[in-house]
Amino acid sequence: MYFDPSEVGMAPAPFKHTVFNALVVPRPIGWITTMSADGVVNLAPFSFFNAISAAPPCVIYCPSYFKPGVDAPEPSLVNVEATGEFVYNMCTHDLREKMVLTTRQSPRSADEFADVGLEAAPCEQVKPPRVKESPIALECRHVQFVPLPAPEDGAAATAVIGQVVGIHIADDVITEDGLVDMKKLRPLARLGYYDFAVIEAEQIFSMQAPGDDRFATENKSS
Ligand SMILES: Cc1cc2nc3c(=O)[nH]c(=O)nc-3n(C[C@H](O)[C@H](O)[C@H](O)COP(=O)(O)O)c2cc1C
Repeated sequence: MYFDPSEVGMAPAPFKHTVFNALVVPRPIGWITTMSADGVVNLAPFSFFNAISAAPPCVIYCPSYFKPGVDAPEPSLVNVEATGEFVYNMCTHDLREKMVLTTRQSPRSADEFADVGLEAAPCEQVKPPRVKESPIALECRHVQFVPLPAPEDGAAATAVIGQVVGIHIADDVITEDGLVDMKKLRPLARLGYYDFAVIEAEQIFSMQAPGDDRFATENKSS
């Protein structure tokens, strides 16, 4: 089938729900820490998230569904507007249940880390803390906000681009031959609806593009 979403919306028959979330998969989950100007920490998952450049290292996430005048804008956007900083934490399979709890709109004053049983670890260059239990954290400085075209219901979405200025990698996911060990990370990914996926050791395979032997002799992660 083919449809133009501007004519029939995102859930034309036979679909019962918006289909878009199931069309670009799997998506990494950006588990984003921000801090308000007065020091209140917020943690929330975003599957509209990705790395967009290696040099300079940059990531993007997109708080959406905010209806101006109806909803309060998401702290994950407002806090970066105020402070210019955020932290990406990798969500692994082990952390999945805690990640889902951080999607709640908590009272502004709440300690979201303690509420869901996570420990906050300080960052080096930015004020928002990282999730101590997460094996990878990227300290980011805001580079650009990209407001997306408002749909008919007026719900706003603004993409947030940040440059990575500090990198945390847990020692136990670094191999002796100097690679990040994907088999130990077990990163979580978002599919459509309530579905998620996890990258397990047996699903990982290697493939070289012609002429690309940058990692060939070293690719022996456990
Ligand atoms: C796995 C997962 C992925 C999500 N991805 C997004 C997303 O990409 N954009 C978004 O606006 N909300 C997303 N949400 C919902 C937000 O996490 C939720 O609205 C959260 O309260 C927003 O954070 P904040 O209000 O604390 O800023 C996602 C929720 C889950 C569980």
